[in-house]
Amino acid sequence: MGPISDALKAGFRFQGLAAFFRRVSALVTANERLDYYLYECRPSKRNEAEFRPKIPDFALKRLSSVKELDELIAGGYDLSAEPPLTRLGLEKGAVAFLLFVGRELASRELVATNAEARAAIEDKYPYKVNFNNQEACASGAWTNPKFRQQGLHTYVFYKAYDYLRENNIKIVWSIIWVDNIAAQKAHQRFAPDIKKVARGRYRKILGLTFYKESLI
Ligand SMILES: CC(C)(COP(=O)(O)OP(=O)(O)OC[C@H]1O[C@@H](n2cnc3c(N)ncnc32)[C@H](O)[C@@H]1OP(=O)(O)O)[C@@H](O)C(=O)NCCC(=O)NCCS
Repeated sequence: MGPISDALKAGFRFQGLAAFFRRVSALVTANERLDYYLYECRPSKRNEAEFRPKIPDFALKRLSSVKELDELIAGGYDLSAEPPLTRLGLEKGAVAFLLFVGRELASRELVATNAEARAAIEDKYPYKVNFNNQEACASGAWTNPKFRQQGLHTYVFYKAYDYLRENNIKIVWSIIWVDNIAAQKAHQRFAPDIKKVARGRYRKILGLTFYKESLI
C-alpha cells in the first residue's frame, strides 16, 4: 500500500462520513410538528348572500380537469402566486375552486371525492373519509396575501360546500392547524352545519411519523 492508495481510502472514508452527516441533517431538518383540529361538515342549503366577500368584482371558476386549467392559463389567468397544488390535485381527480380578482388568482380551495384525489391534496392525516358513503374532504385552502381578510376564503368554502351538497355529499372533512385562527373563524361561519370533532397531533421525527387523534 502506497501513499496514493492511503490517500484514496481516506478520501472515501471522508466522503462516506460527509454523506452520513448530510443524511442525518436531512432527517433532523425534515422534522415536523403539527397540532390540528378535525372538522366535520354536513352541508345544508345556505343563503349565498351570507357569505359574499367584501370585494365586489371577482370570478369564481370551478375546475375538474387539467385541460380546464390549461385553458384558463392560456386565457391569461395568472396562477403564478399559488402554492403549487392545483395541477397535481386536478391530475388525480380533485375539484378546484379558484377565485380570481381581475386575472389574478386570489383564493383557492380543493376538494376530493375519492382516495386518489385525497392523497394528492392532503396526504398526511389519518382520519377516515368514507368515499363510498357520500363523504369527501377539503384541503389546499389558500388566499393570496394581497387579498386576505376580505372574506374570499369563506366565500370559496361556501361554493365548495354548496357544490358537494348538490352532488349528494353528506359529510365533508377538513383539518385546520390549532394556531390558524383565520381558517377556524371561516369554518365557524358554517355553524351549525360544521363541528370540531377531534384534536390531532402529527409528528415526524428522524423520518418516523406519529399520530394521535382524540375526540372532542
Ligand atoms: C387561512 C386563509 C386561507 C384565510 O384567507 P382569507 O381569505 O383571508 O379569509 P377570510 O377573509 O375569509 O377570513 C375568515 C375569517 O378569519 C378572519 N381573519 C382572516 N385573517 C385573519 C388574521 N390574520 N387574524 C385574525 N383573523 C383573521 C376574518 O376576519 C374572518 O373572520 P370573520 O368571518 O369573523 O369576519 C389565509 O390566511 C391563508 O391563505 N393562509 C395561509 C394558508 C393557510 O393557512 N391555509 C389554511 C389551511 S387550513
